[in-house]
Amino acid sequence: MIKICFICLGNICRSPMAEFVFKNLVTKENLQNNFYITSKGTSNEEQGNHLHPQAALELKKHNIPYNFHFASQIMANEYNDFDYFIVMDSSNYRNLQRIFQNDKNKKIFKLLDFTDNSKDIADPWYTSNFDLTYKEIEKGTKALLNHLITKYKL
Ligand code: 4NP
Repeated sequence: MIKICFICLGNICRSPMAEFVFKNLVTKENLQNNFYITSKGTSNEEQGNHLHPQAALELKKHNIPYNFHFASQIMANEYNDFDYFIVMDSSNYRNLQRIFQNDKNKKIFKLLDFTDNSKDIADPWYTSNFDLTYKEIEKGTKALLNHLITKYKL
């Protein structure tokens, strides 16, 4: 079982979008029994909130199933619960390193590290560009799944 936690700042836009897009890809490949997939935020700003309405709309538009989401903050004692922490941007990366007090097993990656352009995924909370966010998440999650399929010979 490969345990993956997608991470952003608020856990209402990017990381739950990545969670549901990745779950959909995994299910389409019939690999759902190989994965535990969830998402969390580095802040507690949105604790308990559902997906941002525009994030939900974007998922609907692309026929990505999603279910009830309860935003939550990642805690320092959760480092050993996951194999991968997939962050959206460099700020999430720094915040998560601080929360875990380092990354001794090198579990933290930026989502677009798995593509040929390792940039940040802009925060639609500020840009309002959910369409671009979706496209980047789709590209990153496909690349991540291909990486894992090769690495673990799935
Ligand atoms: P996310 O977007 O990190 O993609 O979920 C944000 C959502 C809420 C806030 C910031 C970013 N906020 O400051 O409440």
